[in-house]
Amino acid sequence: MEVIIQSDRQSACLLTARMIAKAVRSKPDLVLGLATGRTMETVYELLAEMCRRDKLDFSKCRTFNLDEYVGLAETDETSYRFYMNKHLFGRINIDLKNTHLPNGRAKDLKEECERYEAKINEAGGIDLQLLGIGQDGHIGFNEPLSALRSRTRVKALAPDTVRQNSQFFSSPADMPRRAITMGVGTILESKRCVLLATGENKAGIIARAIEGPITSMVSASALQLHQHCTAIIDEMAALKLEKIDYYRWIFKNEPEWEEYQ
Ligand code: F6R
Repeated sequence: MEVIIQSDRQSACLLTARMIAKAVRSKPDLVLGLATGRTMETVYELLAEMCRRDKLDFSKCRTFNLDEYVGLAETDETSYRFYMNKHLFGRINIDLKNTHLPNGRAKDLKEECERYEAKINEAGGIDLQLLGIGQDGHIGFNEPLSALRSRTRVKALAPDTVRQNSQFFSSPADMPRRAITMGVGTILESKRCVLLATGENKAGIIARAIEGPITSMVSASALQLHQHCTAIIDEMAALKLEKIDYYRWIFKNEPEWEEYQ
């Protein structure tokens, strides 16, 4: 895994948005894997600005989100479809029919998971997968003990995740306890992954995911197996990393990152 440290949250989000923009420019029909959550809001705001100001063109892009709560309608303000329309899709020139999320209200959830995997394959696989990380190390909603080869499926949410996300619901009891999520195996098949984490409250789990052993107890540690994964983190989230000076050196000195200085 390649680790890139940025001074603060805004710079980490900007670097992530610029990497996505570069990928969209070099492949206009990019298949983009997307995540939701607080961390991504700034990235989406920046992409919307690039679309408006720099004419970054999403018209041919196809997107697949990592996850969706079971039981929520698209119109529900706490659904991830609602989040994506609000933060990104409604603000860029993407064709909504090219944007995909699992249907958490499907009658047959197992069939829906299989349909979602097939749809990703039909699109030729995911070119660039954007990822956040939960306090418990989840990517998507792959909670601790998710099999490292798991596929899209229904997953029961762990107590840490319920605590982390129930703030978005009017009462914790309203928060669904299950979600459809791409599997760790599905994520590992994407051609490139970008993991974005900011803030001191992510420092402990980031150190375990990046420098700790690969374990299904921390799903994000499976990214160590990925062929091309870049973790972009701010100084606060980097606080507990051992090789921090080495990572800083890479960003300053490796040719790939020159254009982002
Ligand atoms: C949601 C998702 C999750 C979040 C993670 C971090 O689609 O993929 O893995 O990325 O829970 O969420 P925030 O950014 O709110 O800390």
